[in-house]
Amino acid sequence: AKTGTFFLEGKDLSYGFFINHTGFPEHLYSGGRIDRDVLLYTRSSGGHSSVATPPGEDTQGAQRLFSYHQFSPEISFFGTGDYREPTVHAETVRGDRLTRLLYAGHEILPQKPKIDGMPSLSGGETLRLHLADPDGGLAADLYYTVYDDCSVVARRAVYHNRGAERLILHRAWSFAMGLCGSDYEALTLPGNWASERSVERAPLRRGVFSVDSKRTSSSATLNPFLAVVSPDATEDAGRAWGFSLVYSSSFVLKAEVASTGETVVSGGINDFDFSWVLEPGERLETPECVIAVSEEGLGGMSRALHDAWREHLIPAKWAKTPRPVLINNWEATYFGFDFDRLKAIIDAVADTGIDTFVLDDGWFGKRDNDRSGLGDWTVNENKLKGGLGALIDYLKTKGMKFGLWFEPEMVSEDSDLFRAHPDYAIGLPDRARCYSRHQLMLDLTRAEVRDYIVDSVNRILDAYDISYVKWDYNRNVTDSYSIGLPPERQSEFAHRYALGLYEIFDRIVDAHPDVFFEGCASGGARFDPGVLAYFPQIWTSDNSDAEDRTAIQYGTSIVYPLSTMSCHVSICPNHQTGRTTSFATRADVAHLGATGYELDATVMTDEERAAVRAQIEDYRAMEDLVLSGDAYRLGSPDDNVFGVMLVSRDKSRARMTCYRRLGGPRHGDPVRLCARGLDPAKRYYVPELGLILGGRTLARVGPVPTFPRGDFGTFVCHFEEK
Ligand code: GLA
Repeated sequence: AKTGTFFLEGKDLSYGFFINHTGFPEHLYSGGRIDRDVLLYTRSSGGHSSVATPPGEDTQGAQRLFSYHQFSPEISFFGTGDYREPTVHAETVRGDRLTRLLYAGHEILPQKPKIDGMPSLSGGETLRLHLADPDGGLAADLYYTVYDDCSVVARRAVYHNRGAERLILHRAWSFAMGLCGSDYEALTLPGNWASERSVERAPLRRGVFSVDSKRTSSSATLNPFLAVVSPDATEDAGRAWGFSLVYSSSFVLKAEVASTGETVVSGGINDFDFSWVLEPGERLETPECVIAVSEEGLGGMSRALHDAWREHLIPAKWAKTPRPVLINNWEATYFGFDFDRLKAIIDAVADTGIDTFVLDDGWFGKRDNDRSGLGDWTVNENKLKGGLGALIDYLKTKGMKFGLWFEPEMVSEDSDLFRAHPDYAIGLPDRARCYSRHQLMLDLTRAEVRDYIVDSVNRILDAYDISYVKWDYNRNVTDSYSIGLPPERQSEFAHRYALGLYEIFDRIVDAHPDVFFEGCASGGARFDPGVLAYFPQIWTSDNSDAEDRTAIQYGTSIVYPLSTMSCHVSICPNHQTGRTTSFATRADVAHLGATGYELDATVMTDEERAAVRAQIEDYRAMEDLVLSGDAYRLGSPDDNVFGVMLVSRDKSRARMTCYRRLGGPRHGDPVRLCARGLDPAKRYYVPELGLILGGRTLARVGPVPTFPRGDFGTFVCHFEEK
C-alpha cells in the first residue's frame, strides 16, 4: 500500500506493477519467483525535454520529465504521447479518439469471475484493477489471476462505456506487458495444412513483430501464441515468456521493441476488420491471454502452459481420464462405405483393444463426395442399411463403443438446409461468394442458425448411443457479412462468430456430459485453448506420416500437452506423403499423444493384428504419463536424433521415446540422449539396459539408443524407481 505496488505470486512466478504518480499502472517485473522487495528502483529514470508529458504536468518547471511513452505498460492508449501500439483505441460519435485510463480502484476476488460467452481458466486468486478516463466515458477493468499449481498469470481486459454517448472500439486488446530490455527472440508456431505448428525463432528488432489470423479461426497458419525468449534460451535453461490466447477467432499478438529500448507484448482480438459499438452502459469482454513465465527455458514454459490447460481449462471430467483408443474409417474407405464394409473393419479389430469405432464423413444426407449434404444431419439409410442403430448394436456385440463425425458449422449448396434457408449461409445476398471444399459456412452470429445446429446435432446424440464425437471444420470464413447485423456492426462479425461458436459448444457439450468430443479442422487448423475448453483432444494434423508427425507433434507440444494431441497409426505408404515407415515407428510416434488407428484393418495380417494388440497394451501401460506426466523434449527435429521424455509427477516412473530420422552405414554410431526430469537423488531400473542407475547419472550420461537398421526408427526405454 505504501508504494502503490501490486505483487502477484504464482507457483514459480512473481509479477509486479505499481500505480505511478499519474495513476498509470507501470509494469515492474514478470519472471521466476523473487523476494517481496520494493521494485521501484527498476523503473525508468525520466526522459528528455521533447517527450510529451501527461496532461497537467508542467514540462518547464518539472525536475524530471515523465511521459506515458516511457512507462513500462500494463496497458497503452492513444493520443497522450505514448506512440507504442495502443492496447485500446476508441472513438466517440463526436470523433474524440483520445483516451487515458488511470487507476480508479481495485479488488481482490477469491473466486475468479467467468468471462461472458468465452472460455477461460478456472480457479485462481484474481486481482481486478479498475481504470477510468478522467475526461471521457471509457473505462477498463484489467484482470490478473495467479495459481499455486502453475506458473502462469492469466490476463484480460473488460472495456466499459460509462459515458453518455456511443463509443466505437476500433481496437480492444486483452493486455499489454512490458519486458525490460530488447535483447530477445520471438518464437512462433507457423504452419499450413498437413504441416501445422512448426517452430520458428528470430531476433526481435526495433519495430513491431506480429503474428495474427484474419480467418475468423485461430488457423494452421499461425497458432494464437507468441513466446519472447532470451537469446540463450534452450530447452532447459534461459528465460521465456509464452503468451497464449484462449481464443478461436481472428487474433493478433505483437512484440514491439520501442524507442525506449523496452519490449512490449500485447494483443487479443485482431483489430483488422474489427470494430465494436459500445452503447452507454455496455461492456465488451476480451479473451484471456495466459502468460507463462519460465527461468527453465522452453521446456519450463511449455510445462507451465501444459499444467494450466490440464488443471484449469480442459473439462475436468476428461483431462486426465484414459481416452478411447479408436479406429476411424476415413483413410480406409473415404466416402465409399456401406454397412458390410464397416462391419468388416469392426470384425478385424474386435479383439485388439481398440474400444471405439468412429464413423467419419459420409453417413448423413446426400453425401457421397464433398460436394453435397453438409447441413443435413439425418442418417442416410440408403447407404447405411439399418442406420446407425444397427451399427451401434453390432458394435455392442463386440464390446465396442461408437463415435460419429460432424461438421456442424458448414452447409453445402446441394443440401435440404440450403434449399430451405439459403440466408443461413455467410455472405452478402447480391455478391458472388467464395467456396472452399465446395462448401459455404453458416452464420453463427444469428440465433436461429445456432438453434438449428444445436438441435440437429443434439437430436442425433440423443437418439443414439454415441460416446464420441469428432467435430470437424474444413474451411475458413470468406464473405464476412451477416444479414442479422446492422451496417455499423458488420465489423463485429469475426468476434461474434467466436461467441456463437462457444455458445453452440456449451449447449451441445453441456447436454451430453458423457460424450467425449474431439476437435478437428482439416487436421489441426483450429488447435487452440478456446477449443480445448470444450474438447479435451484435437486431431493434430491430417498428415499422419510418422516422420512428419514428429515435427508437428514437437511444435504442438510447445504450447499443448501430449494428451490433447490426437495421433493415429495409419496405413503405409502414407496417404499424405507416400512415405513408408515401420508399424513400430508409427505406433511409438502415435503413443506420444492420444493414440488411435486410421487404416483399413481388413487387410491387416494376423501378425499386424497381434502387433496392434501389443501396441495398445503398451499404450495403456504408459497412458497416465501422456495424460498427467511432465513432458521434456530432448533435442528437436532439427537434429537427426531427438526424443521426448514423459515423467510421472512423483518422478517414480518415466519413459523416453527416441527417434532417428535417417540411418547411416555406420549403424552403431553412438548418440547419447540424456534423461530429463528424473529425480537426481533417486535410482532407476532401466529394463532396456538391464541396469539400475542414478537419476543424476542418467541426466549426465544418458542411454545410447539402439535403432533398427534403416530410416525413421524409434527406440523406447523406461525408468522405474528402485
Ligand atoms: C477433414 C478431416 C479428416 C476427415 C475429413 C472428412 O479433412 O481432417 O480427418 O474427417 O475431413 O471429410
